[in-house]
Amino acid sequence: MPSLISYVRDIFGKLDENHFKVLRVIEQNLARYEIVPREVIYSETGLGERAEKLLKKLNEYKLIWAPMGYEKGFCINYYGLDMLALKALVDRNIITSLGRPLGVGKEADVYDALAPDGKRLVVKFFRIGRTSFRKYERHRTSLVTAPSHLAASIKSARMEYRALRMLHPAGIKVPKPVARNRHVIVTEFFQGIELAIIQSLSRPIEVLGEILRNAVRAWEVGVVHSDLSAYNILITPEEEILIIDWPQWVPPSHPMAREYLRRDLSNLIKFFRRKWRIEEIPEEYLDLIRKVLEESFLI
Ligand SMILES: Nc1ncnc2c1ncn2[C@@H]1O[C@H](COP(=O)(O)OP(=O)(O)OP(=O)(O)O)[C@@H](O)[C@H]1O
Ligand SMILES: [Mg+2]
Repeated sequence: MPSLISYVRDIFGKLDENHFKVLRVIEQNLARYEIVPREVIYSETGLGERAEKLLKKLNEYKLIWAPMGYEKGFCINYYGLDMLALKALVDRNIITSLGRPLGVGKEADVYDALAPDGKRLVVKFFRIGRTSFRKYERHRTSLVTAPSHLAASIKSARMEYRALRMLHPAGIKVPKPVARNRHVIVTEFFQGIELAIIQSLSRPIEVLGEILRNAVRAWEVGVVHSDLSAYNILITPEEEILIIDWPQWVPPSHPMAREYLRRDLSNLIKFFRRKWRIEEIPEEYLDLIRKVLEESFLI
């Protein structure tokens, strides 16, 4: 499978406004049809049968696919949705280019990018459901995508973006949100690596305290991370932290909110105990946690 970068460079430049028009019509009609009939594409693009050549190209580039056979009509793939999102972000002058992958995982692909003013950005493409068709990748049909997965990815992007817009202005250490389009969010770049993989830490207790304070502040502004782990915390050589990866957050009014917060914090404390050999958790940290959990907090 081509990497996103080479695919973007190769394919994005080959698409003209009419290709994007066809992609958009397919996208818009997926709520109405499981498979968008070509007559709908012909008429709603206003291109009539001229759309046929474009469909062929888009299919060849694997931006769309025909689950029931070429005659029956089309669905859009993740890569097709990527194209539409990137097109919107480029047209809005948010990004000018994509760089190297920063993280390619289960539910998202994360890339380095540049803003028109040269600032480094991060572009996160959600990929819900991808693992369920991993097995097809070997057969080079990996780009097939169920519309419900596309919708779930768009929802995740909305959720994460909403959290960042609440947290960042409150001074909580999260990436600064820059833009969102469809299943893609853009944030500022942070020069750090995952806390889970760093080999030395000069002030582990202070770092733990900083993370706990940020998680408690997040609760106060209405957000419980719910998947807090050493993989979702970035740290610089100066031991500045950033808490990332927020799509699954819940508000404090959620019936499980306290339970999720308790789990987040106790996992984190366990990690610090184990990896950094912290014997005693400072009482002031425990007090901070007890204040929001409104009960005794035992690890
Ligand atoms: N703002 C940022 N600055 C620098 N690097 C980032 C930033 N956000 C994310 N990354 C990098 O991308 C990786 C994945 O990001 P994130 O945790 O948000 O996605 P994820 O949903 O966990 O994706 P995956 O399923 O691939 O693990 C991070 O571990 C980090 O290396
Ligand atoms: Mg993550």
